[in-house]
Formats: sequence, C-alpha cells, structure tokens
Amino acid sequence: MKIAICGKGGCGKSTTTALLAKALARAGKRVLVVDSDESNYGLHRQLGMELPKDFTAFFGGKENVLKDMMLSNFAHKFFDGPWSLSDIPEGYCGKKDGLMLMASGKIHQANEGCACAMNNVIQQFIANLRLSENEFALMDMEAGIEHFGRGVDNGVDLLLMIVDPSFESLRLSKKIQELGGSIGKPVWFVLNKVTDDTRQAMVDAVADSGKIAATLPADSQIAAAGLIGAEFTNSCSGVQELAQDLISGGLV
Ligand SMILES: Nc1ncnc2c1ncn2[C@@H]1O[C@H](COP(=O)(O)OP(=O)(O)OP(=O)(O)O)[C@@H](O)[C@H]1O
Ligand SMILES: [Mg+2]
Repeated sequence: MKIAICGKGGCGKSTTTALLAKALARAGKRVLVVDSDESNYGLHRQLGMELPKDFTAFFGGKENVLKDMMLSNFAHKFFDGPWSLSDIPEGYCGKKDGLMLMASGKIHQANEGCACAMNNVIQQFIANLRLSENEFALMDMEAGIEHFGRGVDNGVDLLLMIVDPSFESLRLSKKIQELGGSIGKPVWFVLNKVTDDTRQAMVDAVADSGKIAATLPADSQIAAAGLIGAEFTNSCSGVQELAQDLISGGLV
C-alpha cells in the first residue's frame, strides 16, 4: 500500500511518518519511507538513519532532470516500467530494521532553481512503484497542498492528513478532503498533538469526524526527541492501532 502523509507545516507529518514506519516494520512489514520534502532534515534522524543521496542524482542531477523535462515539454519518462522495492539503486536507499529510506532531494544552495526536478522524479517514481501485500510505502510530503497540483498524490492508494490543533489545519482538512476526493483517493485524518482541552473541538471541526483514523496525544517524549533531532525509540499511543488498521486494509 502506498500512503501519502500530508498536512500543513509543522502539524507532525514527519513525526507520524517515522512512528508509523517503525510500527509497521515491527509488525513484520517491509516499509519504504520516501522523504519528499526538499527543505527539512528531521525525518532520517527520527528514524535513526543517515540521509541517503538525492534520488534525483540517479537521473543525472537536478540540472539534467530539468533539461530533460524542458526539452520534452514535461513529458520525459524517467521510468521505463514498473519498479519494485528491490529496483531502488544501492546508495540511494538506506536500510535499517526492516525499513528503507529514500529522499527525492534537498535544496542545497541559493539560486539553484525550483524543486520541480525532484517533484517530477518522485511523482513518476510513486506512480511506477508496485508493492506486494506485505509492503508499504510512506511518503512524507512537503507542507501544504502543492503536491496535489503536481500530481504526486495520483500514485498513492490512500492519504493520511495530519491535523494539529489549529484553525489553519482544521480548515485545510476540508480542502484536502476535496482534493483527495477529486482524484478518487480515500482521505483519512490523524488528529495530532491532542490534549483533553482540544480533543472535542478538533473532532467537531475536522472535515469528516467519521474519517478519523487515529488520535495522537501531545506527547512530551516525542517533543523532547523532536527538539534535539533524536531517533524515536518509543512509540506513541494510537500509532500501533493505526498500523494495524492499515495492515488489515480497514482504511481503503
Ligand atoms: N504528537 C506529538 N507530540 C508532541 N510533539 C509533537 C507531536 N507531533 C509532532 N510534534 C512536534 O511538532 C514539531 C513539528 O513536527 P514535524 O516536524 O513532524 O512536523 P511536519 O509536519 O513534518 O513539519 P514540516 O511541515 O516542517 O515538515 C516537532 O517539534 C515535533 O517534535
Ligand atoms: Mg516534516
């Protein structure tokens, strides 16, 4: 199953991706985590892994990818057929405890241009990726909804929107439900950083309270690990159940 994990900036996309990936791996699943955020550097640390080489480099680097895109009027195909997890080239994918990690690519210098190259490669990658029943791909998306515009979500089976206790996040849940629906993808919500004071207001304001896949508490251990960029060694209540729901196919 291919899952996009999305939401507004800082809502907990990377945190949830890392916790969920670890829970799925602990349950014996083969899990690929795709870091498709060109700005942030937290995810690999939360997984306790090194950041792999930019996947875009496998296709000649950002400049060449952009050239291929321009010359073909954005029709260049970087994949000539379906890929399995074993097709991901050595060096572009870290491995640890049943987990694999790849990264579309980061912005490295000022004036280097936009992130279209990385996004185009990763959009085609996820569309061409074929997984068996025992395998999961979790895509940690960049903040916001631009990835819908780029068509990245067309290649996944399910969207998990992480919703934090803020007006913007709750408002965005309606837009993401609409965008996901327009491309025929199931959208589920994960309420995150929830406290006793915010729980009910979040349930009331999220786009569809019948589509809440999990409720994760504001957790001091997670916040502490997040602050120093440490690996998550403990899970968080609600994550194990979310993993089980995904494994049982209850969310598609
Ligand atoms: N359940 C939680 N309890 C406590 N702190 C949390 C929780 N989830 C996330 N955080 C904290 O919130 C901050 C943002 O989390 P994270 O980096 O996962 O968000 P993000 O959506 O990936 O952000 P970005 O949009 O910048 O990629 C971090 O400091 C993280 O430790
Ligand atoms: Mg992030």
